[in-house]
Amino acid sequence: MKELKIKTPTSEYPIYITEGFNGLAAAFETAGFSGRKLCIITDSNVAPLYLDKIKALLSGYDVSSYVFKAGEESKNLDTISDFYKHFIDERLDRKSVLVALGGGVTGDMTGFAAATYMRGIPFVQIPTTLLAQVDSSVGGKTGVDFLGNKNMVGAFYQPSFVYINSQTLSTLPKEQVASGMAEAVKTAYIIDKDLLTYFNENAPAIKALDPEKIGHVIYSCCKAKAWVVNRDEKESGLREILNFGHTFGHAVEKLSGFKLLHGECVAIGMAAAMHLAADMDKTTENDLLDAEKLLQFFDLPIRAENFGTDDIYKQMFYDKKTKNGKLNIIVLEEIGKAYTEKNAPEDAVKAAIAHIAGDKK
Ligand SMILES: NC(=O)c1ccc[n+]([C@@H]2O[C@H](COP(=O)([O-])OP(=O)(O)OC[C@H]3O[C@@H](n4cnc5c(N)ncnc54)[C@H](O)[C@@H]3O)[C@@H](O)[C@H]2O)c1
Ligand SMILES: [Zn+2]
Repeated sequence: MKELKIKTPTSEYPIYITEGFNGLAAAFETAGFSGRKLCIITDSNVAPLYLDKIKALLSGYDVSSYVFKAGEESKNLDTISDFYKHFIDERLDRKSVLVALGGGVTGDMTGFAAATYMRGIPFVQIPTTLLAQVDSSVGGKTGVDFLGNKNMVGAFYQPSFVYINSQTLSTLPKEQVASGMAEAVKTAYIIDKDLLTYFNENAPAIKALDPEKIGHVIYSCCKAKAWVVNRDEKESGLREILNFGHTFGHAVEKLSGFKLLHGECVAIGMAAAMHLAADMDKTTENDLLDAEKLLQFFDLPIRAENFGTDDIYKQMFYDKKTKNGKLNIIVLEEIGKAYTEKNAPEDAVKAAIAHIAGDKK
């Protein structure tokens, strides 16, 4: 079991990274939760796979559970209302602990419910998707979608601990694994050059979810994200670099009507962002080709064939992170280092989009 200590300006908590659930009960004890009421929140896909097992491991506790219908469509205030009703029925109080068992949807909603129920009760993350293990469970962003706007309502709220069992990835559909891998590759490019080397040297084993290799990837990503979040918990600057590939990617995601998975769009967005960095002489054409090869190896798309350059360009201005009509694009300063570019040359941006768009000549 590996352990990472996360320190933010407002809290401190451990992330455990391991290959089973054996250490789970001990983690609850270490957190000082002995004797507390627990409520496990999970979705309809994850519940049949892991809920009974977790309940059995926590048999020393008074545990209830709430299962919601899997999918982003459930990530809204109606579901949160259902959670609150369950909490009241179960008489959860300020000492009770919520447990998020599932992917990013479960984690974001459980965290938001924990931040708001009785003005805040503790919660624990047990992420079961690669995306949640390398990205969403770290950093304290919680929330729900509202009227079709992603993550419009939410709070910054940190968990008491994160328990990552990489074995849960064995049941995760392949395209979901690929989607999470896009965020992991992103992390390597913006923060951790050594991780990129590791990716290139161990790609087949990582893809096969070899426990040691995927464990190292998860550990490195959590560490890198924690490093960023520690310096900028509420996204006033540095944290923006986590959006590498996302300004392009979000546009594609929206144009696809959210049919493409988030990580798939991030991969496409990274191909555009790598093109931009090469165009701005920060990195080389070869770096772009290497990145595209790596993404493709993980079965990720790197082109948005169905969309035109102009459509993607226009859509980018609707991004909620576009400030004052100006595009904020995360650009690589070099491999392993990124910054927010507020004045990317329009020609270079359009060329980057043309590189991924379907109307490329
Ligand atoms: N808080 C953050 O910082 C942050 C960062 C990135 C993304 N997000 C959010 O995360 C969400 C996406 O997360 P996600 O991709 O994990 O989505 P998800 O939670 O919907 O999980 C994806 C699918 O995998 C299933 N699943 C989960 N674990 C499984 C397992 N071990 N075996 C089999 N099936 C399993 C789920 O039921 C679901 O169908 C989005 O809502 C996004 O906004 C949040
Ligand atoms: Zn993302």
